[in-house]
Amino acid sequence: MILDALIHIKDRIDPTLAFRRSCREGICGSCSMNIDGANGLACITGIDEVKGDVRIYPLPHMPVIRDLIPDLSHFFAQHASVKPWLETETSPPEKEWRQSIDDRRKLDGLYECILCACCSTACPSYWWNGDRYLGPAALLHAYRWIVDSRDEATGERLDDLEDPFKLYRCHTIMNCAKTCPKGLNPAKAIMDIRRLMLERIV
Ligand code: SF4
Ligand code: SF4
Ligand code: FES
Repeated sequence: MILDALIHIKDRIDPTLAFRRSCREGICGSCSMNIDGANGLACITGIDEVKGDVRIYPLPHMPVIRDLIPDLSHFFAQHASVKPWLETETSPPEKEWRQSIDDRRKLDGLYECILCACCSTACPSYWWNGDRYLGPAALLHAYRWIVDSRDEATGERLDDLEDPFKLYRCHTIMNCAKTCPKGLNPAKAIMDIRRLMLERIV
């Protein structure tokens, strides 16, 4: 894997080389970087998947802290801004918030996101308006809570996204779905949020 090569370089050639990694299983999202022109996870991308010399860069259009380590503070602040947790008004049940099998199924394709930022940093709209456009990852998470049958803040969540920049800067370019190493489709989640916006108007 590309990550093995980076570890080899750090161990044997240049100990100053800096990059993030943790799980080496495509689960933690730490080792996201631009490999041969496409964003991906170094730990699950084979060296043999790249033809010729392997060119590696930090995730595009992000401030770089050092070498392959981008500053993701703004990205994570945007994620936090969509309140990625269950919001309820009714008092908590004795044991747990229950959900039908069908309602739980609506979260498939959303909850698997590992916040690697490959999608947002591949999105041209996010490159140019990342200060105000939330980007595909944060919007996928926003939709994950909007569509959760147990959540009681759906209206407020949609109100928060009713903004010319936060949501409506997506131009359906689909780079996000193409690059996601977990096979998720943030563009579809964004379209689903827009559909809900329209449905509550008509
Ligand atoms: S579909 Fe939307 S979010 Fe995805 S890359 Fe294109 S503009 Fe960005
Ligand atoms: S949607 Fe995919 S590419 Fe985007 S942050 Fe989540 S796992 Fe990474
Ligand atoms: S090291 Fe965790 S996703 Fe690559």
